[in-house]
Amino acid sequence: MAEQNTMPHLNNQSRLLTDKNTEYEIMFKREGGATNLDSIKSRESRTPEQNAKTYDEWVIKGTYEQDTANLGYSGPQITADTVAMVFPKNKEKIRILDMAAGTGLVAIRLRKHGFKRIDAVDPSPASKKVAMEKNVYGRYLVDFVDERRLDIETDEYDCVVSAGGFGPGLMPSIALKEFVRVVKPGGYACFSCTEYILSLSKDHKEKFEALIEEYIRQGVWEKVSRSVVQGYFDFKPGVVYVFRVLKSEVQP
Ligand SMILES: C[S@@+](CC[C@H](N)C(=O)[O-])C[C@H]1O[C@@H](n2cnc3c(N)ncnc32)[C@H](O)[C@@H]1O
Repeated sequence: MAEQNTMPHLNNQSRLLTDKNTEYEIMFKREGGATNLDSIKSRESRTPEQNAKTYDEWVIKGTYEQDTANLGYSGPQITADTVAMVFPKNKEKIRILDMAAGTGLVAIRLRKHGFKRIDAVDPSPASKKVAMEKNVYGRYLVDFVDERRLDIETDEYDCVVSAGGFGPGLMPSIALKEFVRVVKPGGYACFSCTEYILSLSKDHKEKFEALIEEYIRQGVWEKVSRSVVQGYFDFKPGVVYVFRVLKSEVQP
């Protein structure tokens, strides 16, 4: 396993997002705001099913990948590249689960690195259809990732990955518990999100990094890195987290 200093873009910043709200307010004013900010924030007041349907319809319309590319979405590439640094050898043997997998952008990049054993979870059937046509996943489970136990065995994977899946109305903070359960001890969790998006919803603002720290305190995982990367989405920074999972269960 590569250590932190072999991942040059990972600079291990550990400041909590909640400390940065004022900074974001200033940034939004200076840069003319983030794209579709109101629409992203309004997802918080809708049900998970309504939000998943929005993605489903976006994918059926056929413009999800182009629209996000137009907004400079590089989250899948950055996240998959990080996984490749975590597992420098025997990539074809590493079992990976992609949470909130969407149309398969993370898996496409993982496959370019030589990973072959990749499964997926996402509640959008249209995303599954598009992703499966690309032949990048083995199993693709259509389901929400939240506080419930997924139809996946404990300790089944070497790595869980996710890009862009946390945010208002998407995966709630408590989904991290399921990230921990499906990864075997000694495996890794590598996930990322747009930095400002995590500060938009009450759940992520109050619980996301608090839960991450709580799991460190419980010895559930140890932090490998927390990196702020430029140009993640909407030409704004993202955060890429890497943890080494030590246990399968978290305390309630
Ligand atoms: C911004 S997209 C990211 C998709 C993909 N990872 C990518 O980078 O292109 C967010 C995805 O989260 C999915 N989603 C929404 N709510 C979810 C939930 N509770 N659990 C898992 N995925 C969810 C949506 O269907 C959508 O595919």
